[in-house]
Amino acid sequence: MITVDQTPNTPLTADLQPAEGAGDFLRDVLDGLSDAPKNLPCKYFYDARGSQLFDRICALEEYYLTHTEIVLLTEHADRIAAAFGPQSTLVEFGSGSCAKVGILLDVLERPRAYIPIDISYAHMAAAAARLAAAHPRLEVRPVSADYTRPLDLPHDLHGQGCIGFFPGSTIGNFTPRDAHSFLDDARLWLGAGSRFLIGVDLKKPEPILHAAYNDEAGITATFNLNLLRRINREIGADFILGNFEHEARYDATEGRIEMHLLSREAQCVTVAGRAFDFVAGETIHTENSYKYTAGEFHSLAAGAGWSVEAWWMDRDALFSVHLLMTP
Ligand code: AVI
Repeated sequence: MITVDQTPNTPLTADLQPAEGAGDFLRDVLDGLSDAPKNLPCKYFYDARGSQLFDRICALEEYYLTHTEIVLLTEHADRIAAAFGPQSTLVEFGSGSCAKVGILLDVLERPRAYIPIDISYAHMAAAAARLAAAHPRLEVRPVSADYTRPLDLPHDLHGQGCIGFFPGSTIGNFTPRDAHSFLDDARLWLGAGSRFLIGVDLKKPEPILHAAYNDEAGITATFNLNLLRRINREIGADFILGNFEHEARYDATEGRIEMHLLSREAQCVTVAGRAFDFVAGETIHTENSYKYTAGEFHSLAAGAGWSVEAWWMDRDALFSVHLLMTP
């Protein structure tokens, strides 16, 4: 446990569980660059700069996911609050800037506790401290952890019918198989009688998806390339960022946006003393962002033991929010 600066009379403690240690990062990078095709796990986007860049992506008009989800949550907040009931404990997976949970906290009846979980400790802790200051009666207990690995939620809250919150379609960054495992694990962590509120990006015409992941200001490109900058700094590599370019394309067969870093020329890069050759045009696959129809997502959720209590989408059918419950 460590203490995060908040206000003098309400110290905020964070439960630090092993997220990605330096050793894991090194191993994952070397493994990914040794694979064919080369790839890197998208969870490593979120160093301090990457987290800030992601916040800027969320503010972009082209990146419809964030503003559409905020409208949906706001419009249906009362219905959601009624389903949650009084004194609920909210557990947010990948809470980042804790930007959306405020919409729920404003309408929930005497919420008991909020547990933000995120791999990027400093960014989350600062956001959680701000949130705690704005909601002085709420117990805020940040957990710094990689929620794609086994998690140990605070024991006194375990099995109490907690409410999971997983906005932003981060579930789309899992393969459907991993999404199934995550939903299944989350059901066990949250306990009997729990609910799970999840934002899911919908399948839609390709030009809308293309614009969202290839924004004109180039923020998504900078976010993608920042991964190479992080590798240079944290594990010692000599990637020349100008020798790579951002690429995001929709694979309609897989139903996913793929982000890549494309090598502009034949080159050799040294990472932690190991040489990696690139041919011109070769890519490093850095992220998948799966899109679902509502029916596809409901089947996925049902396969992991959840039933759908309610769900909503905007009138342009861009984005959806699903309220799941244990049967
Ligand atoms: C966090 N996640 C849901 C984002 C997405 O849309 O897949 C990450 C992102 N990648 C590019 N832009 C945003």
